[in-house]
Amino acid sequence: MNMTDKSFTDKVVIVTGASSGIGRDTAIAFAKQGAVVITVARREELLKQLTEELQAFSPRSTYLCGDLGNKDFSHKIIDKTVQDFGRLDILVNNAAIPMHRFLYNISVEDAEQVFQVNFLSCLWTCFAAIPYMMKQGSGTLVNISSFASKVPPTHETIYVASKAALNGFTQGLWNDLKGSGIHAVLLHPGPIDTEIWDKLDDPGAYDGALYPPSLVADEILRAVKKKTFEVVVPRKSFQLILARVMSVLAPSLVRKGIAKMDPIKEVELNQVKQVLANAELDKNPVRMGSFKR
Ligand SMILES: NC(=O)c1ccc[n+]([C@@H]2O[C@H](COP(=O)([O-])OP(=O)(O)OC[C@H]3O[C@@H](n4cnc5c(N)ncnc54)[C@H](OP(=O)(O)O)[C@@H]3O)[C@@H](O)[C@H]2O)c1
Repeated sequence: MNMTDKSFTDKVVIVTGASSGIGRDTAIAFAKQGAVVITVARREELLKQLTEELQAFSPRSTYLCGDLGNKDFSHKIIDKTVQDFGRLDILVNNAAIPMHRFLYNISVEDAEQVFQVNFLSCLWTCFAAIPYMMKQGSGTLVNISSFASKVPPTHETIYVASKAALNGFTQGLWNDLKGSGIHAVLLHPGPIDTEIWDKLDDPGAYDGALYPPSLVADEILRAVKKKTFEVVVPRKSFQLILARVMSVLAPSLVRKGIAKMDPIKEVELNQVKQVLANAELDKNPVRMGSFKR
């Protein structure tokens, strides 16, 4: 982004999930453009360190520490920002947790937690932000989804579902916010080099290139500035373009190809079948997530 560009000077920006990865680089990119950045995450020490970095470019930048899986905290980050800074120009909903796991090892509670952080927190913050943005006559809501929601891999059912919900929600916001002065952006990162990969409880099968988080940060600023609706990052990756085209032209072929890349293991499946063979379901229902020994 051009340093003489004044588009973001003094804009008030919230970036969630800024203690690492894409959120961290996005917060720095906005601060370098003179925006006041309010970062949000749970790890306070990391937010403190980041705030010192941000204040070198944007002295009023600060942080709010808490769990976005909690509705009250999600509302609070919006209300407090407007109380402290008088407005909210850009909300970047970036925080998320991964879940790459054998389906039968996922409990309903595990799945609900992923939805709370990855989808509901975005709903809560967007709904809290809309009245403020509408009153001020402008604002941008940026929701960070995932390329996986476009071409779902195996072992990602719940993560993909949470991001697919976010896609539908953001598309709907774009439609229904017409005339309000509020613009919605939906961004789908491909494989990006962040700590999210270390948080997978089962190792993923992907071993291709990982792109730098700064690439996503740059695309976020660009999409906000140009009022783009949807962006896949990196834009020009041959593999991502091919995967998208093929998933439209030959979806069943793509599904079969992906299933081979990270297959459902027969040995694990047999363990589940064995537990069920010995279970008396009419007396003791067996719940998903209770198969792991
Ligand atoms: N990296 C990729 O390859 C990739 C690909 C597609 C999409 N994405 C998406 O890009 C976004 C950023 O991911 P990333 O790769 O930068 O991952 P990351 O480094 O793991 O960052 C995730 C951020 O979310 C925060 N977070 C998680 N749970 C939270 C909670 N309950 N409350 C508040 N903050 C929470 C984490 O901070 P604390 O732990 O300190 O709370 C962290 O700052 C996510 O939406 C992810 O789904 C990433």
